[in-house]
Amino acid sequence: MRIYNFSAGPSMLPLKVLERVQKGLIDHDGSGMSVMEMSHRSKPYEKINDQAEALLRELMNVPSDYDILFVQGGATNQFSAVPLNIGTVNRKADYVVTGNFAKNAYKEGSVHLDAVVAASSEDKDFTYIPELSPSMFRRDADYVHICYNNTIFGTRYINAPDTAGIPLVADMSSMILSQTVKVSDFDLIYAGAQKNIGPAGVTVVIVRHELTERADAKCPVMLRYDNQVKNKSLYNTPPCFSTYVVMEVLRYLKENGGVAAIQKTNEAKAAKLYEYIDNSDYYVNSVQKPFRSIMNVPFVSPSKELDALFVAQAAEAGLVSLKGHRLVGGMRASIYNAMPTEGVDALIAFMDKFKKANRI
Ligand SMILES: Cc1ncc(COP(=O)(O)O)c(C=O)c1O
Repeated sequence: MRIYNFSAGPSMLPLKVLERVQKGLIDHDGSGMSVMEMSHRSKPYEKINDQAEALLRELMNVPSDYDILFVQGGATNQFSAVPLNIGTVNRKADYVVTGNFAKNAYKEGSVHLDAVVAASSEDKDFTYIPELSPSMFRRDADYVHICYNNTIFGTRYINAPDTAGIPLVADMSSMILSQTVKVSDFDLIYAGAQKNIGPAGVTVVIVRHELTERADAKCPVMLRYDNQVKNKSLYNTPPCFSTYVVMEVLRYLKENGGVAAIQKTNEAKAAKLYEYIDNSDYYVNSVQKPFRSIMNVPFVSPSKELDALFVAQAAEAGLVSLKGHRLVGGMRASIYNAMPTEGVDALIAFMDKFKKANRI
């Protein structure tokens, strides 16, 4: 039996993708072996790697002067890879701190270069995205770093900020492929796969080619973008099976209308849930409305005790991983691409039942 998994990541994968993967588990495409057993130097695997890249390029409309890399170490590894690869001209970078991961990126940046917090929303518990203008960034910064969707706090940018030419780096881990973005508004995008792209183990980097050519001489070889570009992400043994599932997720997304189509569904799912919360007179989401994420929806009930009861009873009803992050408490529903509308409907129905049964 499949249940509705609201985990912030790793999270649900489309059932159709799991079925396809299951079908090819023992004999992939007539090769007589599983992708898990396959050399990354073999023709069938090279085909998977190429297809994954081509599909991502098509789905996100990635311009030809951008490289697409499939690397390891999670989005967290990119907190180090970014300063070591592109923060090498003036060794200065400006970070916008809108949550825990944005802060971690800033902290790691500080290890490698002169990093400053150009703006932050910590004054209001990360419940909004600060207004940004080019004058807030140092003109000689090597890049500006933002986290486009804040997984823990449930906020998102509405647009890419104007940096007046300073390279813009965005952590899109928890929103990539959920809505259309203009890739050329950014110079580097990275995302851990385990929310909208596939299973954990692989991380996507989309980077303007010229930025791959200025790595620090001391940058570890596995982190070097130029090295990964030259080797088509196959410098060492990659997480073959994860990348294979990514390819299947991308194929499925394309077959189902691509990013514009899933965006419509995502917006409708999120609107429904926020509308219910706002009209409930029981549950509260504290994020300022314009910045509400369509992927991660944190909310609280009238008390901590009721929150705990909610999470436990929801799990019994087949709605799992609704516990909020420890920094925020309460509940969080992560409703990524693979969460069907029926899952959101089931959550709302449960919330209503719970509210009626636990009036205060
Ligand atoms: C926005 C964001 N950035 C970075 C990370 C860290 O990702 P990873 O665990 O792949 O290193 C996460 C994980 O949830 C995230 O949501």
